[in-house]
Amino acid sequence: MARTAVKALPYEHVLVRREGRVGLVQINRPKAMNALSTPLMAELVQALRELDLDDAIGAMVVTGDERAFAAGADIKEMAGVTPMELLTRGSLDLWDAVGRLAKPVIAAVSGFCFGGGCELAMLCDMIVASETARFGQPEIAIGVIPGAGGTQRLTRILGKARAMELVLTGESIGAREALAYGLVNRVVPVELYLEEALKLAAKIAGQPPLAVKMAKEAINAVDQMHLDEGLQVERKNFYLLFSSEDQKEGMAAFVQKRAPNWKGK
Ligand code: CAA
Repeated sequence: MARTAVKALPYEHVLVRREGRVGLVQINRPKAMNALSTPLMAELVQALRELDLDDAIGAMVVTGDERAFAAGADIKEMAGVTPMELLTRGSLDLWDAVGRLAKPVIAAVSGFCFGGGCELAMLCDMIVASETARFGQPEIAIGVIPGAGGTQRLTRILGKARAMELVLTGESIGAREALAYGLVNRVVPVELYLEEALKLAAKIAGQPPLAVKMAKEAINAVDQMHLDEGLQVERKNFYLLFSSEDQKEGMAAFVQKRAPNWKGK
């Protein structure tokens, strides 16, 4: 498949490329273990939003490098800030923006996935991990707590007892344990984790685009709403899809025993 740069955007901290209908955004700050500074997060969010709005893209992958997906928010940037600065800068809002993307995002994780890195991975819709991946929320060791959703998302995924232990001790878990706890979708040898994530993303990007977005929104409603409201989102999205050409095409193709031709309309 063709690998092309999206545009000559002046990104300093992320690399963006396309593989067919998949957009790949790589965190590129290896000297700082891919620590998620505010400028880096701003670029990451901008790159993801552009891909999210691009009809030629069906799914995204976010990755780091083999040594670190990301070792957390940038501690050096945060060390001297005041609560008022944190509040007015709204730095952590950038993390929320990742959770608001309409298209599926897969985190391809190797090495350290700590603090804000783990929170970023959990904001993605699925995680493909290398055997060397380690997940943790070590903020307690620097006198704070997870601030980008870690206490909430980790607890929903792992359950109270395990989340409590990880957040209160600051200890981390390996990829196999993360798989057993349902934090990650699959664990593969380190040389394969990115390919595997791209393959999964390509498979999703080949599905009818409207149905993919509607399904993502409905599944995410589980965490954001009570059951009755979540069921309403699902029902509304199900009905709405019957106004799309892809629904007619998908069902006609099934009846006619042929492959569907998705238009995203
Ligand atoms: N912020 C800023 N710089 C970081 C960083 C971070 N989160 N993590 C690593 N770095 C820097 C180191 O300071 C070091 O820089 P120098 O070469 O200039 O000294 C470089 O990256 C390499 O790191 P180490 O030498 O520490 O590498 P290591 O292999 O010995 O250890 C590590 C790796 C265990 C991941 C260790 O770097 C570490 O513990 N990092 C911090 C993890 C952490 O506490 N994360 C939570 C941050 S707070 C947060 O994320 C809040 C939130 O919820 C949003």
